[in-house]
Amino acid sequence: MSIAPSPKKVLAFAGSCRQGSFNHALLQHVIALASESHPDLTFTLVSLADYPLPLFNEDVEASDPTPPALIALKALFAQHNGLLIASPEYNSLPTPLLLNTLSWLSRQGVGEAPLAAFKGKVAALVGASPGGLGGLRALPVVRHGLQNVGVTVVPQLVSVGSAHTALTAPTLPDPTRAMIVTQLAQLSHHLR
Ligand SMILES: Cc1cc2nc3c(=O)[nH]c(=O)nc-3n(C[C@H](O)[C@H](O)[C@H](O)COP(=O)(O)O)c2cc1C
Repeated sequence: MSIAPSPKKVLAFAGSCRQGSFNHALLQHVIALASESHPDLTFTLVSLADYPLPLFNEDVEASDPTPPALIALKALFAQHNGLLIASPEYNSLPTPLLLNTLSWLSRQGVGEAPLAAFKGKVAALVGASPGGLGGLRALPVVRHGLQNVGVTVVPQLVSVGSAHTALTAPTLPDPTRAMIVTQLAQLSHHLR
């Protein structure tokens, strides 16, 4: 009797909660492509707009260490071993929203292991920008931080430039699609 492999669950979110976010749109493209090339991956796509967290500082945390959005986000992270993160680029850096969210998630709750939200996770990083580089400079910054809190980040990074045209076309350009398929294969492999 063969035992069906357990699904590889991936939580997808963008570091932008802007209406019409190119990064959110890129996630939708990646997930659509994955449904063709990697049906072994199942995705939960969320918007950080639905998890509003105050700007982190330790005084704010002391007054309310477990805001409801943090409890909900940590529960989501616990349910998924994979992460698909679309990071916009602001002045060559990840957005305040993404960094703020990661700061909150890094905090150890009562009864939690240190960095429980991150340890053992596997992440794939993508980014989109109307500019030519597609946010390429921010992705290694996100990778660096995630690796230091226990996340395995797959080697292939995907950035989509000229996002206002590339992401409104019915399909992504072939080289971008190929990079995404490579990245998904790496994600699937590391989640095995
Ligand atoms: C404060 C700020 C700084 C930005 N810096 C960069 C940058 O360094 N590189 C870049 O490619 N785009 C930059 N942009 C443009 C963003 O890529 C663009 O606003 C993009 O649409 C943001 O992602 P989103 O569509 O997912 O919200 C910047 C935008 C803002 C508001």
